[in-house]
Amino acid sequence: MRMTPYISESAAEAAAGRPATITAGSAGPSDPDPADSGLAVSDPAVSGLAATAAAWQESWDRQQEGFMPDREERLAAMLDAVEAVVDTDSPRLLDLAGGTGTITLRALARFPRARVTLVDLDPALLALARASLGDRAVVLAADLARPDWPGRLPHRDYDAVLTATALHWLPAERLTELYGELRDLLRPGGLFVNADRMPDDALPTLTDRLTARARERRAARYAAGAALSWSDWWARAGADPVLGPLVRRRHEIYPTGHSPEWNPPVSWHLGALTAAGFTEAGTLWRGGADAAVAALH
Ligand SMILES: C[S@@+](CC[C@H](N)C(=O)[O-])C[C@H]1O[C@@H](n2cnc3c(N)ncnc32)[C@H](O)[C@@H]1O
Repeated sequence: MRMTPYISESAAEAAAGRPATITAGSAGPSDPDPADSGLAVSDPAVSGLAATAAAWQESWDRQQEGFMPDREERLAAMLDAVEAVVDTDSPRLLDLAGGTGTITLRALARFPRARVTLVDLDPALLALARASLGDRAVVLAADLARPDWPGRLPHRDYDAVLTATALHWLPAERLTELYGELRDLLRPGGLFVNADRMPDDALPTLTDRLTARARERRAARYAAGAALSWSDWWARAGADPVLGPLVRRRHEIYPTGHSPEWNPPVSWHLGALTAAGFTEAGTLWRGGADAAVAALH
């Protein structure tokens, strides 16, 4: 299925013009310069979140769990796979489209000495990641829709690239290319894991029913106030005095406010990963219509 690229060139340029680097961490001499453009710890948009970042992280997690009640399971499966392929306590990890730092925070809890790079395009989520992570990770603004995005990464030999609930924002052609770029960023034997909505194409009827049931449960949770919906979460963030201006910039980058919802089945991902040159590609985890595919360089 062909998709129109979601991020317009002009929006991407606008984004690229502002936040080439949000911050640099402590990963070594090849790190981006902390004095480069973008948000530093002292930036009001980051320091203003010092007292509230943990609460925003918590509400982001509840909002995402509204879509994925088994979210923590897939993230744990991802980190189990990392543990299986690394023989160091300081693995180099890339959290791709990492948002507020969900994967990075869990990776650092599991591997406190990990050298993590987080990449995203959303200014509000990047500010939350920066405020939450401090100098424990390198946090970079980059547009994965552009093939030059790896240009400022601090490493070229990651032990693992991890991503969750994000790559469905990219159209098929771009995601296919991105898989090749990710293979080139991994050391031989390195691991890639992508957790996302990836139906099993052998189960179309069951998948439809599981999806309908999940939608009903989600609607009940929203109605009961158990979790915020995607649009309510963003409305609340937009009303926050510190996040508000960043949310307004976000709307320029993502004019529709959400992904195009292109969700190919696992078989599509495995074919694209194999074509990109990964030596093994298969299903690491499955829950309902969602899955995590893993591949080794
Ligand atoms: C639903 S969020 C998931 C964030 C995080 N991985 C998590 O699990 O909480 C999707 C993320 O993909 C990011 N994203 C979408 N398109 C992107 C692009 N072209 N470049 C970089 N990040 C992108 C969004 O900014 C957002 O942070």
